[in-house]
Amino acid sequence: MINICFVCLGNICRSPMAEFVMKDIVKTAGRQGEFSICSKATHSDNIWNGSGAPIYGNAQRCLAQHGIPFDTRKEATLLKKSDYEHFDYFIGMDNDNLYYMKKILGGDPQHKIHALMEFTAQGGEVADPWYTRNFERAYEDILAGCTAFYHTL
Ligand code: 4NP
Repeated sequence: MINICFVCLGNICRSPMAEFVMKDIVKTAGRQGEFSICSKATHSDNIWNGSGAPIYGNAQRCLAQHGIPFDTRKEATLLKKSDYEHFDYFIGMDNDNLYYMKKILGGDPQHKIHALMEFTAQGGEVADPWYTRNFERAYEDILAGCTAFYHTL
């Protein structure tokens, strides 16, 4: 089993989009049994008393428009230090995410932490649609990143 955790700031926009895009890619490839895929947050802004917010409405609509199935019960979850042992890959969306992922996980001795866009020729970051309001652009970057990442697995 390959365990993958996508990570962003709030776990309500980019990382859940990446989680469900990646689940769709491995399902289409007939390999869903080989992967366990989830997503988590570096910050607790959308988590209250252990209960997390669902995927943000615009992100849900964007996934639906592209025919990507998602779980409406998905709740924002905070990344924690003990996650480091469990997962094979931690995939962040931007440089800020990578900074906090390393801080929370206590470094990266096994080189498990990556930026999603590092798998693509263009590189860079997935801009946060919470601020840009451009969910379509985020989706396109996430699809390109997840497709390229999948081909390394
Ligand atoms: P995400 O976007 O990191 O892609 O989930 C954000 C969602 C919420 C907030 C910031 C970024 N927030 O400040 O609540």
